[in-house]
Amino acid sequence: MTQYLTDASRPVAPAADTAPGAAAASAAEPRGWWRDAVIYQVYPRSFADSDGDGMGDLPGIRSRLPYLRALGVDAVWLSPFYASPQADAGYDVADYRAIDPMFGDLHDADALIRDAHGLGLRVIVDLVPNHSSDQHEWFKRALREGPGSPLRERYHFRPGKGEDGELPPNDWESIFGGPAWTRTNNPDGTPGEWYLHLFAPQQPDFNWENRAVADEFRSILRFWLDMGVDGFRIDVAHGMVKAAGLPDIGGHDQLKLLGHDVMPFFDQDGVHAIYREWRKILDEYPGERIGVAEAWTPTVARTANYVRPDELHQAFNFQYLGTDWDAAALREVIDVSLDAMRPVGAPATWVLSNHDVTRHATRFANDPGLGTQLRTPGDRALGLRRARAASLLMLALPGSAYVYQGEELGLPDVTDLPDEARQDPAFFRGAGQDGFRDGCRVPIPWSGTEAPYGFGPEGGASWLPQPAEWAELSVEAQTGDPNSTLEMYRSALAVRREHPALGAGTAVTWVDGLPEGVLAFRRDTAEGSFACTVNLTAEAVRIPAPGRVLLSSAPAEVVDGAVELPSDCTVWWAV
Ligand code: NOJ
Repeated sequence: MTQYLTDASRPVAPAADTAPGAAAASAAEPRGWWRDAVIYQVYPRSFADSDGDGMGDLPGIRSRLPYLRALGVDAVWLSPFYASPQADAGYDVADYRAIDPMFGDLHDADALIRDAHGLGLRVIVDLVPNHSSDQHEWFKRALREGPGSPLRERYHFRPGKGEDGELPPNDWESIFGGPAWTRTNNPDGTPGEWYLHLFAPQQPDFNWENRAVADEFRSILRFWLDMGVDGFRIDVAHGMVKAAGLPDIGGHDQLKLLGHDVMPFFDQDGVHAIYREWRKILDEYPGERIGVAEAWTPTVARTANYVRPDELHQAFNFQYLGTDWDAAALREVIDVSLDAMRPVGAPATWVLSNHDVTRHATRFANDPGLGTQLRTPGDRALGLRRARAASLLMLALPGSAYVYQGEELGLPDVTDLPDEARQDPAFFRGAGQDGFRDGCRVPIPWSGTEAPYGFGPEGGASWLPQPAEWAELSVEAQTGDPNSTLEMYRSALAVRREHPALGAGTAVTWVDGLPEGVLAFRRDTAEGSFACTVNLTAEAVRIPAPGRVLLSSAPAEVVDGAVELPSDCTVWWAV
């Protein structure tokens, strides 16, 4: 049955004057490319391995750019590739201006950026300003020079509490579990001050009150902007400013408060001054360079503060990512998101998966209400059906959308990774979420029937083992199969590019009066109208057909002006 992929046109190469990078500076550049961009997250360790060491790398990514162009995305966001001891998979940066040798070098980065631009793809790099690696030159010197060193002012060093300073300076807990403080030894070997690390001990937090830190990051921004990148995804964008005096929180299980309460180390108002400074730098460069906040805040309304007109351009919508497969909950989070962004004039963004959460094909395979860190595979077929429907719903919403590598293949999480293979520091520190982020980081399958499935050279390894079932999920296996998830994404992105009512926008019009558990909305423009219908129930539902089927996540037949929407299915309509 091929009917549900009809009407999809292939993505077209961009006109020369809309290509990013140098060409993007031209007067013909349409404003606000990021307002409706589909941004594809590449996790460099797990995308493509050019040299067979089992670890993805920049030449590997470069070789696969044509795949991304043909998929139809607008931009690529690369998780960190900087020089790093990899205590947190690269989110512990030792040198912000160097590439880790496992990924390549600056020439590879330059070639990658140029090639991407040549293909009409923009490049967003990850910036990690909340903390460095403990192997960063500043931190090593701070330790070496001992208490009183001006280098210690660039981090949060404090004497401990208790008679001999044996207790941490306050009661903050690390996001990865355990105390957020680690005691140091003085240069003479005696126990000394403590330093703050909201994440792993190998990730000391910078002190953003210190001028040298702010100056350094302005310079790092310019370094990468001069390299030609089109923007930054800002890691822990809500964390750089801590409440004055580093006050105790009180009580235990602070992790449970994250994302619900304002914490003295997250979402402090002072952080916005940093983004106002950065925005000026971004605006100095041609081609609309952007900043994207990874800001976990209690509400979408607080997230909107990060994308006020003089701050960043986008912020991830984690409330959307955390919403169960439930019609009422989804409708509410969509409304709340659009309402929150409208007053600040920023686009809403939508995301279902990333390298920190269980992939949505696995989340939706399990019971609702379990959160975003799961270790159970659940009902795979159900999960895939819902994931496909959820992806089409997401791509129909007004604004910009994020696609995490492999979701276009319908990949599930690998929930049975052996403990000895796991690398997530959260696992070793026993954080509440059980540290199961490795499950969504397994290298993706490209081709062939044997691991590493084209991720690297034949017979080579992959840093996390790939399951045997992934042969049938590879890019090669899915290409040309009109029922595959990959072809559904290709078609969806092509239709999204072509249809005047898809992409940018600030509102949807809900269609009411449909059976419970069915969501339907319209998007109307002078050039054409679009409708999206989603059946989130366990039964097929018959509703009036709002128009002509453009695309659907499962076969949906229109008979006599009515459509039989299968369970867990999304249909796109030209109205
Ligand atoms: C958020 C990143 O996405 C995550 O992978 C990392 O562990 C933390 N920030 C700390 O940098």
